[in-house]
Amino acid sequence: MTDRVVYFNGEYVAESAARVSIFDSALMFGDMAFEMTRTFGQQPFGLLAHLDRLYGSLRLLEIDCGLTIEEMEAKTLETLARNQPTEAEDVDWQIMHNVSRGPLPLYATVFDGATEPTVSINCWPLITHMGGFLANYRDGLRLAICAQQAIPAHLMDPKAKTRSRMHYQMAVLQGARLGAGIWPVMLDPDGFLAEGPGWNIFLVKDGVVFSPEPRNCLLGVSRGNVLTLAERLEIPVRQANLGRYEALQADEIFCTSTTYCICHAVEFEGQTVGDGGPGPVFQRLQAAWKEQVGVDFVAQAEDYAQRLAAWREAELAVGVS
Ligand SMILES: Cc1ncc(COP(=O)(O)O)c(C=O)c1O
Repeated sequence: MTDRVVYFNGEYVAESAARVSIFDSALMFGDMAFEMTRTFGQQPFGLLAHLDRLYGSLRLLEIDCGLTIEEMEAKTLETLARNQPTEAEDVDWQIMHNVSRGPLPLYATVFDGATEPTVSINCWPLITHMGGFLANYRDGLRLAICAQQAIPAHLMDPKAKTRSRMHYQMAVLQGARLGAGIWPVMLDPDGFLAEGPGWNIFLVKDGVVFSPEPRNCLLGVSRGNVLTLAERLEIPVRQANLGRYEALQADEIFCTSTTYCICHAVEFEGQTVGDGGPGPVFQRLQAAWKEQVGVDFVAQAEDYAQRLAAWREAELAVGVS
């Protein structure tokens, strides 16, 4: 058993004991909102932005999780504090919030007659995510459009971050069929770039950063950070309808997500992006990001990649004791 603990419905329990019921609405409908925040230098980055989005998702799903946003923040910080001593001091963390409506009332008798929302907060060392990501920073991403489309906002608004994600999983499966290591880009039903199954996409043309108009994609916290950093660096940004054509003319393409922050693409639909390396706008944004958070996350990925095998071994050894 690992030493990590999880905030689970008002208590702190061992990670292996944090279990969602087979009767939970999360399992029945994918009826769960979630968030993924990371730390830099062991401090959560953009926690309030993530919690704001979580509570926005919960409002859309009509779930009252029973905690105010301030209480959720306090529980989050406590969960992190309880887990930090289980790793070396230079290890950063993923913080995951999962909130479902709880078990379906039909099965209430299994739960002493009352069903409550299922609320969990867990922390996971970023050694695995970042260590495993190193090759992408180094080699750049290869993107291709997949058959699966983004679900448009008039059907189910993607601005809510929910566990109802089969369409993202289909995109991942299709990406793998398009070629080993291909990252799938979903178009919206009008044929415009929407997002990837876990990340936002940006194009750069003639020094201007372009982001898909935020209608049919998640408003990524990292996407928001690109807009902030670009403004600070006086790099012009436009939010627009962008298609396959625009992506093929782009000087640079990059992707953003909470764990790895920002990573450049070297290929789109089998064609080389720019000169096939990290472009100048991307490099300025990445440097500003590292400075902003006080962590060189690429160097961190290199460090974690070296420690990953030993970390896994230690984790497994604890697991059997
Ligand atoms: C569908 C989707 N788009 C974009 C993102 C990037 O969002 P963020 O930058 O907040 O991590 C995510 C993150 O999980 C996602 O699931």
